[in-house]
Amino acid sequence: MDIIKDLFGQRERYVPMTADAFERLPRHVGIIMDGNGRWAKKNKLGVALGHRRGVETLREIIRHTDDLGIGALSIYAFSTENWNRSPEEVGALMQLILDFFASEIDELHEKNVRILILGEKDVFQPRQRETLIRAEERTRANTGLTLNICLNYGGRAEITRAARQIALDVQAGRLSPDAVDEKAVSDRLYTAGQPDVDLMIRTSGEMRLSNFLLWQCAYAEFLFPTVLWPEFTVKDYDEALLAFGGRERRFGGRLTP
Ligand code: FPP
Repeated sequence: MDIIKDLFGQRERYVPMTADAFERLPRHVGIIMDGNGRWAKKNKLGVALGHRRGVETLREIIRHTDDLGIGALSIYAFSTENWNRSPEEVGALMQLILDFFASEIDELHEKNVRILILGEKDVFQPRQRETLIRAEERTRANTGLTLNICLNYGGRAEITRAARQIALDVQAGRLSPDAVDEKAVSDRLYTAGQPDVDLMIRTSGEMRLSNFLLWQCAYAEFLFPTVLWPEFTVKDYDEALLAFGGRERRFGGRLTP
């Protein structure tokens, strides 16, 4: 089919998408941005610079996701396990996250992006927490891309939290035990109302889910490009999206011959 869109005329950076490819884009993409540390080491730089470079990649990927009209993007920015890293690295990541909001929020809001923070916010320092809450509140009514920024996030903790909420609802008589079904759980996840993850990408060649969006990935397609996150380009992303479009999804069923 003919090339119908050559985004921004930057042919070398983007893989041209056919109308058919556009039709087959995922509705929800998850990304585990892995490899910042290895990239820093490879370039004889401190790990903080690896993360900083990772944020640059992230900016481009968010923009491109929005340009393509994909409905939701979930990024694993800081897991519950990441607190075990050195105080210097945790501090550098926190600062990068704050800087990201300071520098990006206006543009994201202007682009109608809705920001959601997935994860327990109470552990963050007041200044950080305020920044996160303000970003969510400011973009709450936006109807474009939903950007799920997973911070202090763990998939098991998210499901456990939903189970606790169900228990409370049943205890209070708001929910009958018979009404506890998959939708009742989904509705109590951070991603309530969003489609499940269609495509999960983890860079750097590691092939693990690492407690990321466990429930939402039930039928996700997985791609594990070997490139390190700071070197992941929009072209790599397009290729992943096209590869996803070529996958045959059966959702546990069987295709009729
Ligand atoms: C994994 O690389 C990456 C992380 C633990 C953090 C990713 C965070 C960012 C890119 C920036 C922060 C996010 C926002 C929203 C601004 P690694 O350090 O585990 O890499 P390695 O496995 O090579 O050591």
